[in-house]
Amino acid sequence: MKLTKKTRAAYLVGLLLLLFNMSFSMDNGYNLWLNYSKIDDASLLETYRNQLQTVFVTDGGATMDVIKRELDRGLGGLLQQEVRFEPNPTFQNQLIVSRYAELGEDLRTLVDPADLTSEGYFIRTIENKKHRMVLITAQTDIGLLYGTFHFLRILQMHQALDGLQVMESPKVDIRMLNHWDNLDRTVERGYAGFSIWNWHTLPDYIDQRYIDYARANASIGINGTALTNVNANGLVLTPHYLEKVKALADVFRPYGLKVYLTARFSAPIEIGGLKTADPLDADVIQWWKDKTKEIYDLIPDFGGFLVKANSEGQPGPQNYGRTHLDGANLLADALKPHEGVVIWRAFVYSEHDDTDRAKQAYSEFVPDDGKYRDNVLIQVKNGPIDFQPREPFHPMFGAMPKTPLMMEFQITKEYLGFATHLVYLPKLFEEVLRSDTYQKGKGSTVAKVVDGSLNHKKVTGMAGVANIGTDANWTGHPFGQADWYGFGRLAWDPYLDSGTIAEEWLRCTFTNNENFVGPVKKMMLESREAVVNYMNPLGLHHMFDTGHHYGPGPWVDNLSRPEWNPVYYHKADDEGIGFDRTKTGSDALSQYAPELGEKFGNLETCPEEYLLWFHHLPWDYQLKNGRTLWDGLGIKYQQGVDQVGDMIKTWEDMKPFVDEYRHNQVSMLLGIQLKEAKWWRDACMLYFQTYSKMDFPKEMEKPENTLEHYKSLQFPFAPGIRPTWN
Ligand code: GCU
Repeated sequence: MKLTKKTRAAYLVGLLLLLFNMSFSMDNGYNLWLNYSKIDDASLLETYRNQLQTVFVTDGGATMDVIKRELDRGLGGLLQQEVRFEPNPTFQNQLIVSRYAELGEDLRTLVDPADLTSEGYFIRTIENKKHRMVLITAQTDIGLLYGTFHFLRILQMHQALDGLQVMESPKVDIRMLNHWDNLDRTVERGYAGFSIWNWHTLPDYIDQRYIDYARANASIGINGTALTNVNANGLVLTPHYLEKVKALADVFRPYGLKVYLTARFSAPIEIGGLKTADPLDADVIQWWKDKTKEIYDLIPDFGGFLVKANSEGQPGPQNYGRTHLDGANLLADALKPHEGVVIWRAFVYSEHDDTDRAKQAYSEFVPDDGKYRDNVLIQVKNGPIDFQPREPFHPMFGAMPKTPLMMEFQITKEYLGFATHLVYLPKLFEEVLRSDTYQKGKGSTVAKVVDGSLNHKKVTGMAGVANIGTDANWTGHPFGQADWYGFGRLAWDPYLDSGTIAEEWLRCTFTNNENFVGPVKKMMLESREAVVNYMNPLGLHHMFDTGHHYGPGPWVDNLSRPEWNPVYYHKADDEGIGFDRTKTGSDALSQYAPELGEKFGNLETCPEEYLLWFHHLPWDYQLKNGRTLWDGLGIKYQQGVDQVGDMIKTWEDMKPFVDEYRHNQVSMLLGIQLKEAKWWRDACMLYFQTYSKMDFPKEMEKPENTLEHYKSLQFPFAPGIRPTWN
């Protein structure tokens, strides 16, 4: 064939494009922390290859197949060689994955299964006359799967296999994601695209994402997922949708991931044709029993219902003059024969209750401690308001010794900069879990309430509102993956250190190069305080613009319910700023143990990070460093902006260690974060200045715009809530 000039030119362009693409290294982040790239340390690679010449995995069952596939993929990638599976154990330079019951007598004596819960595992290196091997063993197949992922993580982190002695059991029973996904595939407070559940093509089309989602969750020990928004749609409980839910449950089962659904309290009316949803009505009781049985006939290991009732307009038992207790026990009875649980949310506050919103959930639930059925868990947000950059822990933790309380964290960043800000959330989670409730004396931490050890709870749980969507990298911001990862790790073990978790994630996701891991870990750990500083310093909270919660709106005072307005929370006036929650104010402090009431109530001992959460103080109040409150606020805002500046510098230096694609993504996002940090500083300080009437502290840069400008901004395109265009 003779090439014309034109075709030759086209070929040349094509070739150049190909070369260009090859030189532009790209990782779109889809593989999360499971990318299993080749061990780049030649001698370590050699050692691993010697130690892991063959693999033996016990036969039988879907989970064992998953384990084999994961090892094939993981070892194949990390060691860059074909993985040799042996049909029988040789015990020589072999990785063995075997159920405890199937181990030979000599190996059984080496591990004590009494130490393991059903999801726990051992990983041991055994070198004696007969064996040179790494052994992963557990009581159950799911335990083996968790052990396998842990083992692969050890390799990903370049740790030595010699002398391995790992024994792990999860400290919390239910470790679940809550998806706030609507049936039309929008995601409430979702910033990473649309819902990954494609209701249209289910049940016949199984998207590879469903499988990779289950893998990712299993790799960090997450064992439950509530598929649908807490602002629920009853339709998901109709046969049409249930067969789709069943298809997902079938995919997730081998990964140990149970499916839960949100139950709309008025479903008996909306999809059942009843006249009422009264929890004490005989027909309603029967309807929930039948519906629950219908679900279990399809999904025998269905987890249960997650319920938001009588909160923010959702229907609930109070519509019929009944209580949360009546509602929760109704569903508990329907689930009991099938061993399912009800997860009843404590995020309630009412327009008819004019007490401090922070107090309302406690008042509604605590008096009924001990009256809930034993398959009810009350799911409580980490703080008493709503997932703010910083809140003191929710006073319900430790206050209901007879009722299992589940922790609810928000992994999606509704109030922490959406998916555009780099804010490492495990630092926030850790702060909450380590908080001391003093409910049974010093050391009664929130972690001990959550894992049940404080009051010997039979069932325990932790939920995270997912930040997952259809974006190529699942979470929008590449660092949002660390929040999903860290949530899972803390749900497994609420005592883990956020720094350790950051390091694991960085090594598995990017590289083990110390020149990268050190600085980026530091940047992640500092990022949480940065967002507190540039959004809500010194205990301020809920100053977000209306509806979408994007950006500052401290001036908003015209919403129909008082507690929806930022002015309700900061209470700035000519005298000063802050919410008095001491005895002279709402007395919300009385819901905490007396030790904390005293500590937070006394200005001498109240940590400054909670100052304006608990106190209303004059603008010229003197802070511990001798500066006025007004100056202190400005300095904190500025510090937040400067911290983002430092993050940008750190990231800039990381160019040699990260593929160009993700480096560029994070750089652009940090640019937005800096712009928005300044926006927060300027808008809030200009607004507060209308009351303080004081000059900005000298440390603070001058605002870039006027208050009127900031007030005029509108964001009809802000994601996370169905947008309204005028
Ligand atoms: C917040 C959030 C809502 C959500 C609610 C909840 O208020 O803005 O979108 O529905 O929390 O947790 O139920």
